[in-house]
Parts: sequence; C-alpha cells; structure tokens
Amino acid sequence: MLRTLASRSVTVLSTALLLIGCTNTTPQKSENGQAGKVAPVAKERPGVPRSGEALFKQYCSPCHPDGGNVSDASRPLYGSVLRSNHITTPEDIVRIMRNPLSRMIRFDVSTLSDQDARAIAEYILATFNH
Ligand code: HEC
Repeated sequence: MLRTLASRSVTVLSTALLLIGCTNTTPQKSENGQAGKVAPVAKERPGVPRSGEALFKQYCSPCHPDGGNVSDASRPLYGSVLRSNHITTPEDIVRIMRNPLSRMIRFDVSTLSDQDARAIAEYILATFNH
C-alpha cells in the first residue's frame, strides 16, 4: 500500500514537472532586435516579417555568398562592381531579379513580392558597399 502510494506520487510529480517544462516559454526576440517594429511585408504574411537579410540568405546566398558570385565571378554584388555595371538603385536590382541576364534564376512576384524584392535590394546596397 505504502509502496503504491509512493510510486503514484512520483508519477504525479514527474507529470507536473513535464507540464512546467512545456509551459516554459521564453519571449522570442525579433530578428533585428527591434521588438514591436513590424516590417510592412508582415501584412502580407501575418506573423512572418521577412527582413532583407533573411530573404537574401534564403534566396540569393547559395549563388552570392557574402555578396560574391559562385557561377560568374565577374558579376558579384559589390557596390563597386554594381556601379560599373550601372546598377545603382534598389529598382535596378529588383529589375535583375525579375529579368536576369543569363545564368541567374528568375524570381517572379509569386516567389518574392515587390516588397520582399526591394528589401533584398536595399540589404545588398547597404551591406556589400565596397
Ligand atoms: C542560381 C544562382 C543564382 C541565384 C540563386 C541568384 N543569382 Fe544573382 N546572379 C547569378 C549569376 C550567374 C549572375 C551573373 C549574370 C547572369 O548570368 O544572369 C548574377 C548576377 C546578379 C546581379 C548583377 C551583378 C552585376 O554585377 O552585374 C544581381 C544584382 C543579382 N545577381 C542579384 C541577385 C539577387 C538579389 C538574388 C536573390 C534574390 C540572386 N541574385 C540570386 C546567379 C544567381
């Protein structure tokens, strides 16, 4: 009798601990550390704000790691090279995403909305500005 009671309370105790473990939610920090500031794209995809940096890493980094270019070394995303190819504004970069020159894959609006495309373009111009 005593043994049964003891093992029962162990079961109850570990169940309680499990429950506590499950409800232990630590507040999530937003990706850019600016809690409360929601990017305009959040309206399109509720709960999933997409930053230029995150989008770049997802869609562009495979071919453009750190702004380089794995399949055409003469066309990286460095500001100096972009400028020499007359690519100076976010619109210029978005245009290339929609209509790449040759080997780059095309990103249409169903993959990247205009806002997403622009966020990536601004990230590129601000990040690889050498
Ligand atoms: C499959 C590989 C691949 C992916 C993925 C890719 N690119 Fe490219 N990108 C290239 C290649 C190759 C070129 C050289 C031009 C060409 O062949 O189209 C290029 C050229 C560019 C250029 C012009 C660079 C210059 O100096 O003229 C820009 C801007 C650019 N890519 C932006 C992007 C962005 C933004 C993304 C992500 C949304 C992306 N690329 C994803 C392969 C890729």
